[in-house]
Amino acid sequence: MIESKGWNWEIVKEDKNSIWKNPSIESYYLVNRWKSKNKKDFLDLGCGLGRHSILFGKNGFNVFCFDISENAIDRTRKWAEQENLSLNFKVGDMLNLPYEDKSIDCILCRNVISHTDTEGMKKIIEELKRVLRKDGECYLTLGSKDSWAYKQNWPIVDENTKLRMEEGPEYKVPHFYADYDLIKDLFKEFSIEKINQIENFYEKDEETYTSFHYHLLIKNM
Ligand SMILES: C[S@@+](CC[C@H](N)C(=O)[O-])C[C@H]1O[C@@H](n2cnc3c(N)ncnc32)[C@H](O)[C@@H]1O
Repeated sequence: MIESKGWNWEIVKEDKNSIWKNPSIESYYLVNRWKSKNKKDFLDLGCGLGRHSILFGKNGFNVFCFDISENAIDRTRKWAEQENLSLNFKVGDMLNLPYEDKSIDCILCRNVISHTDTEGMKKIIEELKRVLRKDGECYLTLGSKDSWAYKQNWPIVDENTKLRMEEGPEYKVPHFYADYDLIKDLFKEFSIEKINQIENFYEKDEETYTSFHYHLLIKNM
């Protein structure tokens, strides 16, 4: 299994307008969905700078902020203090979550669990299964093999995984890419409640690039 490597958040400046400080669109849906199902214990797995931890904290959830990057956890902690929110913080590796069996109601891991190889992916999925309560839910995203990045001539780790070689916070961080059949097999112990493949466009050096991500909502049975 490849060694875990988090994002280098030290090179990412604080900017309240950046995407990392503003909740993703689907997180508002998840707040409402999980409130209406009386979910309470929320794990922000790979919380980054804390945009979802803060949103769920403000909405009355008991929030566990978790990331392998100390810098990310420090910055999430500072932001929570500014907001007068009392959240729980831990630095660690998603391959071994520091939470009790069946202790969590709902998990958001947006653009996080892809940062490993195929063996690591299987281990993380076991960890999700272990910590979620029965009927607990997890919303996660996975890079798709249709993405531009998967087609790059970057170092291959295994048949599903490459090292990302662009300069920036995810330089040399492993990226696992999936397709629909692989997803069905990996998550066979869960009920897949929703699955979408979403295409994102972005411009760089006057070129248009596309990336595709699978968005999954899974339920523990
Ligand atoms: C793309 S960022 C997403 C941050 C956050 N989920 C968000 O949507 O704003 C990926 C995050 O996953 C964390 N990460 C990567 N590998 C990890 C691991 N093995 N264990 C825990 N966190 C990890 C990174 O440090 C980074 O903060």
